[in-house]
Amino acid sequence: MFYPEDLVEEIRVKNDVVDVLSSYIKLKRKGSSYFGLCPFHNEKSPSFSVSPGKQMYYCFGCGAGGNVFTFIMEYENYTFQEAIKYLADRVGVELPEVEFSKEAKEQADLKSKILEINKLAAQYFYMQLKNDSGKIAYDYLKNRDLTDETMKRFGLGYSSKYSNNLYQYFKNKGYSDEILKQTGLFNIDEKKGVYDKFWNRVIFPIMDVNNRVIGFGGRVMGDGSPKYLNSPETKVFDKSRNLYGLNFARTSRKNHLLLCEGYMDVIALHQAGFTNAVASLGTAFTQGHANLIKRYTDQVYITYDSDGAGRNAAVRAIPILKDVGITVKIINMQPYKDPDEFIKNLGKEAFEERIEHAINSFMFELEIMEQEYDMKDPESKTKFFGEVAKKILEFPEDLTRDNYIQAVAETYHVGYDNFRQLVNRVGIRLGGISPREKAKPVKNSIQSKDGGMKESQRILITYLIEEEGLYDKIKDYITPDDFTEDLYYTVACILFEQLKKGEVNPAKIINHFTDEEEHKQVAGLFNTKPKAVETKGDKEKALHETIVRVKENSLIYKSSNLSSGDIVAEMQRLTEGKKMIERLRTLHISLD
Ligand code: UTP
Ligand code: MN
Repeated sequence: MFYPEDLVEEIRVKNDVVDVLSSYIKLKRKGSSYFGLCPFHNEKSPSFSVSPGKQMYYCFGCGAGGNVFTFIMEYENYTFQEAIKYLADRVGVELPEVEFSKEAKEQADLKSKILEINKLAAQYFYMQLKNDSGKIAYDYLKNRDLTDETMKRFGLGYSSKYSNNLYQYFKNKGYSDEILKQTGLFNIDEKKGVYDKFWNRVIFPIMDVNNRVIGFGGRVMGDGSPKYLNSPETKVFDKSRNLYGLNFARTSRKNHLLLCEGYMDVIALHQAGFTNAVASLGTAFTQGHANLIKRYTDQVYITYDSDGAGRNAAVRAIPILKDVGITVKIINMQPYKDPDEFIKNLGKEAFEERIEHAINSFMFELEIMEQEYDMKDPESKTKFFGEVAKKILEFPEDLTRDNYIQAVAETYHVGYDNFRQLVNRVGIRLGGISPREKAKPVKNSIQSKDGGMKESQRILITYLIEEEGLYDKIKDYITPDDFTEDLYYTVACILFEQLKKGEVNPAKIINHFTDEEEHKQVAGLFNTKPKAVETKGDKEKALHETIVRVKENSLIYKSSNLSSGDIVAEMQRLTEGKKMIERLRTLHISLD
């Protein structure tokens, strides 16, 4: 934090969260909170809440949340420092000029330094594209049908023929090799020294959802290998958690996303008006990608390359998307290879039609399966339908199964009754197990991984800030140590200090973190409620269970992390812990 803590807090207090957010979104009072449509994801009924008491906002739909600084950071794409400045101006607080010593500068948050360099590099590449020397790249992009407006929107650029132009540019600005190395923009060679990673390539800056440049891709103009060169992963670039184009797609207000493979596909689609296109950029599609998408939509249309590799990639992505509860459809682009080529040849109306005719992922999987069978051979064909029947039996609902039986009958021109009988026979043959029991249990994302442990810790923290007097009742049992996640522990330490003084101020706690992702997580900590809790009795029961769980988990955690130090003392502490849990089990904690 560059500014003194007290000053940051003063600015926050003067900018009432309801006041500030009301100038961006329409809020309606409901009980002690305000509600509105979330500006960070597409929704029809309001799940975005603003609490004047906590001075925080939280979206129950997408998990966006934080204090007034977080909101400005997210909405205006500002850094924490910029948000402070903006809000200080708003209420007429004057900020001191901050001077940095060289050391202080190097100490300053590494991430924001890398982001700053990336941004400058992107601007530099863009300038080069617009220079005479960049004509070759500009012509290349023009030849690929991109308009000037599109080039600007995506910040496309050019890295010149000279292999250390960019490096010199940053050296002249006084950046150290130490920091430049961490950006992934330069190669370090023992003999040749440091030189640019990208040269003589068209540059595609990769932005995160907040429009911050986190990495780059560079394409050779024409043939050459590798076709695309990409930044390595850095402190700010996690390939499995970012999607190219999502910064624009997230505000497209469509109810689905188009998922494609490459930079040019995203850009061509956006230029044609499909601003909901994103790409996983050649890397395998991961659960991190799926979770990211789930924050914005639960419908994905895959428009991967139509060759074998693209179809295989789609087959792998489907279960990952489905696992997080996303419905998947597949767009057929034949006879073209990818969306870019399709649009270039047939135009956007034709692509729109392909979207309408996209097939359901199940039917797509059957198409892939079909290739393994000789459909002209009656025996092979029968085997195929047997396999299809098995797949259909995995659906737990009768109605769903019937819908698929119908769809298969139509698509593959077989009699509905015949096929239905086959499915039933296969079901009986598989041991008479009812399909419902056979079906895999539905995964519950948070619950399954840690048995809901993190969630319990979040619930407890939410209770502690919402229920006056609770702290005094449980302070002998629960300490910050019982929060086993690093971030939760940090928050608990500050919160317990505040509770001790009787000055609960959740929004102030957020000031301790400068990263938006952390803001969001902390906001989540202050907004987690147990499910199905209505009466006061329910609430007390849920609270009691939560406390016992958190304490038990903390004990298990500690016993599996015994330091090799004083084992006897540690064992003693564990025994005491066990006794405490016994006492906790019978303790009644009232909420009055
Ligand atoms: P493609 O080979 O399908 O390229 O790779 P493309 O997107 O159609 O590119 P153009 O139209 O020929 O320019 C899809 C994606 O895979 C990654 C890139 O992100 C690319 O956009 N890729 C591909 C690489 O990272 N390196 C490569 O050498 C090739
Ligand atoms: Mn292409």
